[in-house]
Amino acid sequence: STAGKVIKCRAAVAWAAGKPLSIEEIEVDPPKAGEVRVKIVATGVCHTDSYTLSGQDPEGVFPVVLGHEGGGVVESVGAGVTTVKPGDHVVPLYVPQCKECKFCLNPKTNLCQKVRITQGQGVMPDGTKRFHCKGQDLFHFMGCSTFSEYTVVAEISICKVADAAALDKVCLLGCGVPTGYGAALNTAKVEPGSNCAIFGLGAVGLAVALGCKAAGAKRIIGVDINPAKYEVAKKFGVNEFVNPKDHEKPIQQVLVDLTDGGLDYTFECIGNVNTMRAALEACHKGWGVSVIIGVAAAGQEISTRPFQLVTGRTWKGTAFGGYKSRDSVPKLVEDYLNKKLPLDEFVTHNVKLDEINEAFHLMHEGKSIRAVVLL
Ligand code: APR
Ligand code: ZN
Repeated sequence: STAGKVIKCRAAVAWAAGKPLSIEEIEVDPPKAGEVRVKIVATGVCHTDSYTLSGQDPEGVFPVVLGHEGGGVVESVGAGVTTVKPGDHVVPLYVPQCKECKFCLNPKTNLCQKVRITQGQGVMPDGTKRFHCKGQDLFHFMGCSTFSEYTVVAEISICKVADAAALDKVCLLGCGVPTGYGAALNTAKVEPGSNCAIFGLGAVGLAVALGCKAAGAKRIIGVDINPAKYEVAKKFGVNEFVNPKDHEKPIQQVLVDLTDGGLDYTFECIGNVNTMRAALEACHKGWGVSVIIGVAAAGQEISTRPFQLVTGRTWKGTAFGGYKSRDSVPKLVEDYLNKKLPLDEFVTHNVKLDEINEAFHLMHEGKSIRAVVLL
């Protein structure tokens, strides 16, 4: 058994901002008290990994093991760990759930703050690191660091999921899919018969579409500047498509005209402050709700005329779909197994760990919904 020993394995290391990832042999320490060491089986690649790698993220630190959309198997656990055991299938969670902080105790939020500071600094909750390479410590990322054959995470940042679920699919429940699906179901609380517009038809926007469809929405309008997204979006429930580039008028005006005064719900899944404004202003007077899901670059600001809110539109935002992570992800895995929540359709590409830079490339080109790395 490897329990209690340092494990040597391969990982994709980000040595410096703006450089491709580099496959290295690293050493992974055993888990300390309250920690879990996981053999990662599969990981998605997401925009947040790319944003931090680019150097634009003010919290970004190097060298680091990125990745936060993973699935794996518990290798060993540290002292005091009770909720997972070796052999369990698990999903690491960048939004933890300690079940004791004031955020966890409040049903209105999922934003557990227990390890917020150390997670942002790229270290474990005790302030130290478990990864080493060529005599240097490597930083952790978002409490997950899934771009490694083995990782160490806090027990509050992981949940056990059903063994029957394929880890190369349920890894997507670590980020993109709950983020969109929950935005529709938990944050907007879309009602049957409503009209919805989704700005951006990437993995997040398509997950919003699944949520709108599950809630019984009538019109689900996809807004994207890439018409290649339309065919695929139909499979996720998008039943109309608007390309802002096909219109002279601002997109909010186009949508208001198309929907007799505006939408009941809009979702921004791009991370662009201009489309955030358009999404709000495309809402119906009196009751329209717009949810911001896309993450804009640090320092960006949103604006609109306050009259938009005075006249009854609501601007909201959500992270991880509002799901309390450890309570919810195992249930979403059950929904996947019961065929209520399709995940397979999100995976358009599989690559090996040493091809991980290709997964970033596919994402930037808009060619993948999700490229999943098989470790
Ligand atoms: N108007 C309409 N659509 C746009 C625009 C725009 N101005 N700019 C980009 N898009 C479309 C792209 O064509 C793409 O289809 O938005 C979509 C974004 O999808 P992805 O790049 O696949 O991103 P996704 O993984 O879904 O994440 C969406 O959420 O994680 C956050 O901020 C992060 O940008 C990311 C966003
Ligand atoms: Zn908490």
